[in-house]
Amino acid sequence: MKILIVGGGGREHALGWALAGEGREIFFAPGNGGTGNNIPITPAEIDKLAEFSQREKIDLTVVGPEAPLAEGVVDEFEKRGLKIFGPSKNASEIEASKAFAREFMKKYGIPSPHFEIVTSFEEGKKMIENWKEERMVVKASGLAAGKGSYVCMSKKEALKALEEIMVERRFGSSGDTVVIEEYLEGEEASILAISSGEQFLTLLPSQDHKRAYDGDRGPNTGGMGAYAPCPLIKREDVWWIEEHIMRPALSGLVQEGREFRGVLYAGLMVTDKGPMVLEFNVRFGDPETQAILPLLKTDLLSLIEGAIEGKLPERIEWEEGYAVCVVLASSGYPGKYEKGKEIKIEEWDGIIFHAGTKREGEKLLTSGGRVLNVVGKGKTLKEAKEKAYEGVRHIHFDGMFYRKDIGDKGLRYG
Ligand SMILES: Nc1ncnc2c1ncn2[C@@H]1O[C@H](COP(=O)(O)OP(=O)(O)O)[C@@H](O)[C@H]1O
Ligand SMILES: [Mg+2]
Repeated sequence: MKILIVGGGGREHALGWALAGEGREIFFAPGNGGTGNNIPITPAEIDKLAEFSQREKIDLTVVGPEAPLAEGVVDEFEKRGLKIFGPSKNASEIEASKAFAREFMKKYGIPSPHFEIVTSFEEGKKMIENWKEERMVVKASGLAAGKGSYVCMSKKEALKALEEIMVERRFGSSGDTVVIEEYLEGEEASILAISSGEQFLTLLPSQDHKRAYDGDRGPNTGGMGAYAPCPLIKREDVWWIEEHIMRPALSGLVQEGREFRGVLYAGLMVTDKGPMVLEFNVRFGDPETQAILPLLKTDLLSLIEGAIEGKLPERIEWEEGYAVCVVLASSGYPGKYEKGKEIKIEEWDGIIFHAGTKREGEKLLTSGGRVLNVVGKGKTLKEAKEKAYEGVRHIHFDGMFYRKDIGDKGLRYG
């Protein structure tokens, strides 16, 4: 069987690792220095991906990032009779348009903050001036590579954010519509579901670490580490989230004619009134996936094929214990950073997923902001954390930086 994985980050390396097995040949487009069978096609080149799949007789394509989903990669593959795992373009709108997503959540009674949608700077300015509270969150509605949301502590900050989005047009047309939201207080966690439409199975709850530095300080990044399962979300909370968030969202999407087949990711704020949805994503999270998949006992392929064919298994089997993923980044990230630094990895018995790496002859070089993902597993969260940081000590490159507190929030829950 031939499987194509679209994308080149840590998430895609982890997907390939989890899908590997006897009789399975795995290709990556474009992959990275840690993956084999790399095809020089980027996720944006949808026609080339489809042509490659036809030519190579790929049996299944799995899409990592959101952009090609929002651009209709699944619709294009299905039109050509190719098997692919991910939501259609119109189902992907739940991530690609925050305005659509908020209206949808309101319509289907999914717990979310109060919000308003504006389509001009003047309208937004008035909305901010009349906002009940000083704090609020200002979001470009369209895709903005995770940089379009501004958590503002004052109306002045909110106005500046609105100006960046709507006047300076930092995100181009993704900022034509802006969502202004009530500021929610609490702790964040995420939960992913594999869905065949209305039927779904949730994966272990996890927690990402978005900020660059320890103690959740510094600028937002693509994610500096994650761990699973996240003890903030207890078993009974998972059930509650399934019934009050996942099920209404998936059946709502069916009712809207946007049946969702793929991974629905709910980014949650756990408030003192319970979990509320910050956003939905339409794909596996990066780096959450790197912490979740190493605990999966069920064959990922059976889940993906089950979702595509509308017959998911009864349940998912997980290993006992925890996994912690620490992201090693290039100094300067998420701002400017240098590439091309040589990476040395000493022998170690844990899991390492590559992200911004490339091979040049015998050498492994840095080629991105997030470079490697080091995953440790353990019976307890503490053991898993220790294992991951033991792995970190086996890796060296110029300017390597990472957070030292991945998992600490979970340790507080015992
Ligand atoms: N209503 C909100 N209240 C408080 N914080 C928020 C709110 N919405 C978003 N955030 C913060 O901003 C981050 C990014 O927002 P999110 O909606 O996930 O958009 P994106 O990931 O597309 O940038 C969240 O992870 C969270 O930390
Ligand atoms: Mg987010």
